[in-house]
Amino acid sequence: MEISNIITLALGVSVVANGFLVSKLMKKSKENKYFSSQLQKFKDLSSKLRDIVVQREETFYKNLHEVAVGFLERVNKSYFIVLDGEYGSTVSIFGDSSINVAKRVKKTELPFATERVYTIEKDKLSALFPNLVKDGSEKKMLLVSDIFIGGELKAKLLFERDEPFAKEEMETIKSLGPFFTSFIATHSYVSNQGKFQKDMILTIIRILEYHDPYTKGHSKNVATLASLIAEKMGLSDEMIRKTYWAALVHDIGKIVIPSTILNKEGKLTIEEFEIIKKHPVYGHDFLSTSSDLRELAKYVYHHHERWDGKGYPSGLSGEDIPLISRIITVVDAWDAMRSDRPYRKGLPKEVAMKELVEHSGIQFDPSIVKVFLSLIEEQGIG
Ligand SMILES: [Fe+2]
Repeated sequence: MEISNIITLALGVSVVANGFLVSKLMKKSKENKYFSSQLQKFKDLSSKLRDIVVQREETFYKNLHEVAVGFLERVNKSYFIVLDGEYGSTVSIFGDSSINVAKRVKKTELPFATERVYTIEKDKLSALFPNLVKDGSEKKMLLVSDIFIGGELKAKLLFERDEPFAKEEMETIKSLGPFFTSFIATHSYVSNQGKFQKDMILTIIRILEYHDPYTKGHSKNVATLASLIAEKMGLSDEMIRKTYWAALVHDIGKIVIPSTILNKEGKLTIEEFEIIKKHPVYGHDFLSTSSDLRELAKYVYHHHERWDGKGYPSGLSGEDIPLISRIITVVDAWDAMRSDRPYRKGLPKEVAMKELVEHSGIQFDPSIVKVFLSLIEEQGIG
């Protein structure tokens, strides 16, 4: 099954569960204000669904945690613990971060009850939160929510505050359980699927590198730098990931260009150059056979366009060229200038930077050059 179908299916299940909860809350919202505000939060949660499941692990848990905390009136501290085998790891902390929290704790040392949502005395958690127990001698209660996937305990959410938790709040947290289950399960599926596809693509890149040894490491460098630019430009997580993948495969079409042309040391003839110029078209043709990779195919197709419209294969100019392709063009040129070739040494960093500036607004998108130059300064990119 394709990844997009899996997401749609899992989200569909969540939406059905959400619909059930919303209707339950709607009945209660007529009764009091607390439930009507909770109803709004559930509605907002649905719209966030798709964005959250495709995020990187760290951001994903942080956002999911934030959503959970938002459902309670007030929380001093909260911890999100994910279990893996015999151990639990704290993946997100809300509130006072100076509290000493064990990053990894044995599953058997975690609080446990037969209910899915329950309160527990704070000093029962000494193994996990040694300093939390020491601060304040009174026995505070913690609200614990256990999240199960396929009958197996997968995560724990802990909430702490000075006042006791109301029955309604415990009910809300309980209602969130199915959401969290489907969020975490979908996210872990999407991440694994992503890893498999990445491994496949890296294998193909390695084959390309055998065919064209001068590109060794080039695809990975271009992918890393392109995604740094995308991040710096404030693009969404999904766009950053697409940038990385498109950059990783940008030269994949070279695999069908004869190696005698690719590896030729002397000057290329006009005919040979025309053959090389076809690699973005070939790359596009390979990638567009997979529905998951079709969008990347478009970015690969345009990675040799120029800002002034004198590039190939379409001769697009300015912002008509897809943004991701424009990002790849800049870092592709940078990495090529900085790398050694059999017939010349790589250009020094300052010279390569000067080249980028000189061709900014002609070959390259000036705003991307600006972002990239500031990245070079800030992060000391070689
Ligand atoms: Fe290329």
